[in-house]
Amino acid sequence: MNIMKFHNDEDFVQTGASLVASLLQSNPKAVLGLATGSSPIGVYERLVQMYRGGLVSFAKASSYNLDEYVGLPTDHPETYRSFMNKHLFSHIDIDLSRTHVPNGSAKDLEAECLAYDQMLESNGPVDLQILGIGSNGHIGFNEPDAGLSSGTHVVDLLQATREANARFFPSIDDVPRQAITMGVGSILKARQILLLVRGAEKAEAIRNAVQGPITTQCPASLLQTHPNVVVLLDEGAGQWL
Ligand code: GLP
Repeated sequence: MNIMKFHNDEDFVQTGASLVASLLQSNPKAVLGLATGSSPIGVYERLVQMYRGGLVSFAKASSYNLDEYVGLPTDHPETYRSFMNKHLFSHIDIDLSRTHVPNGSAKDLEAECLAYDQMLESNGPVDLQILGIGSNGHIGFNEPDAGLSSGTHVVDLLQATREANARFFPSIDDVPRQAITMGVGSILKARQILLLVRGAEKAEAIRNAVQGPITTQCPASLLQTHPNVVVLLDEGAGQWL
């Protein structure tokens, strides 16, 4: 793993955005794996600036998002589809028909998961997978458990995850109880992984992920098995590394 710790935000976002931009410059048809959460927002903002400055184009790229809440109407402001539109897709030249986010309001969720995997299989592999990490070590919505699923699947969100995400909803009762997530197996198929971690509340999770034992109780620790992972940490997240 290539772990980089940043003392200022500017270098953090510039390094993350440059990695994505240089991929698109060398391979305009790149398949991007995208993540939501607060950690990647700055990188998305910088990519929008780079696009506006003519430094990068997404016109031929495609994207696959990691996860989506189950049960929210698609136009709900807290769906991950809405998040991606707001922070990235609406501001760049990506063809929306080539952006993919699991459909959490599908009638048949199992069929939706299967279809998502089939799309990933036929259009993949993902060239660069952006990831965040949950304070409990989750990636996507792969929660710590005795075992982990390889492909896209429906998960029951842990109370801790619902509490962590309650800040985006009127109350904890409004936070969905389930989500669709790409599995750890699908995540690990990406050619390169860019893990973006910000905030002191992630310090323990990221230390476990990169220095702890490889265990399904810390799904991010499985990233240690991947040959090409870049980890960007801010000061808070990197304080124990
Ligand atoms: C959610 C997402 C994860 C993300 C995590 C961390 O739980 N499902 O994919 O990594 O949030 O978010 P943040 O970057 O806001 O800490």
